Amino acid sequence: MDEAGDGMEAAQKLASGAYSLILCDVRMPRLTGLELLKHIKDREISTTVALITAHANVKDAVEAMREGAFDYIEKPINETTLLELVAKAKKAHDMIQKISLSAPMLSPGEGRECVGQSKEMKRVFQIVDKLTRVSTSVLIRGENGTGKELVARAIHFNGPRKDGPFVAVNCAAIPETLIESELFGHEKGAFTGADQRQIGKFQYAAKGTLFLDEIGDTSPATQVKLLRVLQDHSFTPVGSAREVKSDVRIIAATNRDLEKLIREGKFREDLYYRLNVMPIFLPPLRERREDIAGLVSHFIEKFNQEHNKQIQTIATDALTALENFNWPGNIRELENTIEHGFVVESSSVLTFASLPDHIKKASRKSSLNQKTTLQVDSLDWEKGKESFEREFIVQALKKNSGRINLTAEIANIPKNTLLRKIKKYNINPREFGGWEGNLEP
Ligand SMILES: Nc1ncnc2c1ncn2[C@@H]1O[C@H](COP(=O)(O)OP(=O)(O)OP(=O)(O)O)[C@@H](O)[C@H]1O
Ligand SMILES: [Mg+2]
Repeated sequence: MDEAGDGMEAAQKLASGAYSLILCDVRMPRLTGLELLKHIKDREISTTVALITAHANVKDAVEAMREGAFDYIEKPINETTLLELVAKAKKAHDMIQKISLSAPMLSPGEGRECVGQSKEMKRVFQIVDKLTRVSTSVLIRGENGTGKELVARAIHFNGPRKDGPFVAVNCAAIPETLIESELFGHEKGAFTGADQRQIGKFQYAAKGTLFLDEIGDTSPATQVKLLRVLQDHSFTPVGSAREVKSDVRIIAATNRDLEKLIREGKFREDLYYRLNVMPIFLPPLRERREDIAGLVSHFIEKFNQEHNKQIQTIATDALTALENFNWPGNIRELENTIEHGFVVESSSVLTFASLPDHIKKASRKSSLNQKTTLQVDSLDWEKGKESFEREFIVQALKKNSGRINLTAEIANIPKNTLLRKIKKYNINPREFGGWEGNLEP
């Protein structure tokens, strides 16, 4: 709870603190209620604004609501009406923040959580649940960063092998000449440089789980050996005559198109069938956008601990931008984006401004595409073109608070062309430029 003497003071306070509700008069010295509201909307500050107005100024209040105010009350203020308004505003604010959406479903060990409430992820959780009761091999498919390793850990740490080791091997990162010894171990003198006997990852993972990441990148020779472990539960270390029994559960993962690799003769079909007993497919994040809000609040909690910060929530417009983004790097990219926000954000709310530039830009472009509607009065080609051009420029300027450089960049119009058109169509960018009129040269 805080108070400000007038609109200007409120604007100053907003720059350094987070407020869920602002109650303000319409008529105020220095900065009116409407101007304060515009200031808030232009800066995409996450707060709810309600206005107090004299009966004579109700028209202003109604206009303010059109500009995005939440509600207004008339003077003299009745206590019950005021309390009702505050309760209603709080409910709306909380709902928008969606903070309660985090739904941890699985615990992949070591304090990690696997979050998701889309029907795709619920299905994954059901399969994982079944897989924790058996020891069959698992093949996890999905693009980069979709959570393949996290799901592998969830299977391990929720199953009967949870007290055994979880050993991860990235098959794509180990040179071809070393992978066999890495997986199966070697005897002393097995090859040049092997001056000591060494046990392999299969032995390390005994009674536990071996996670073979990027299995699509293994060579035909390694594939033959893996097939043998899967069939006979035994293997021979490099340079050894002794066969070793293996009590290891294999979970493999890949983002490659294995069926295509099989057709090209680069992946063994028999190994594929052995691994694919219970396949899990993790859909890309852009196909399960319902999970984004929950993931965001999960990462906010995580980074609050890691960075020792107190971020409360994410602003609505920032969340919308994240929900609309395409996420080529999937959840890893989303996680990095939130961490980026933690580094740059100084308030207690992750704002749109704290998002990386490419996400802000994508968001502005998409809302511009959605909102540009065109009306033509006569069906004349030249007039139609002009009317489109004018409307487009007005919308683009509005979206960017009248800033010429920004509009030119985001709408992809050369700056000189933009200035020429502004003059031609007699557009006043200052009209869209916030209360201090930030028109760039
Ligand atoms: N459902 C989820 N809930 C919470 N965090 C998740 C979820 N899915 C993925 N993550 C997080 O996203 C990051 C990437 O996940 P992970 O490493 O498991 O992906 P991957 O599919 O193995 O990626 P790559 O193909 O690049 O190896 C990790 O930090 C992980 O903890
Ligand atoms: Mg991985």
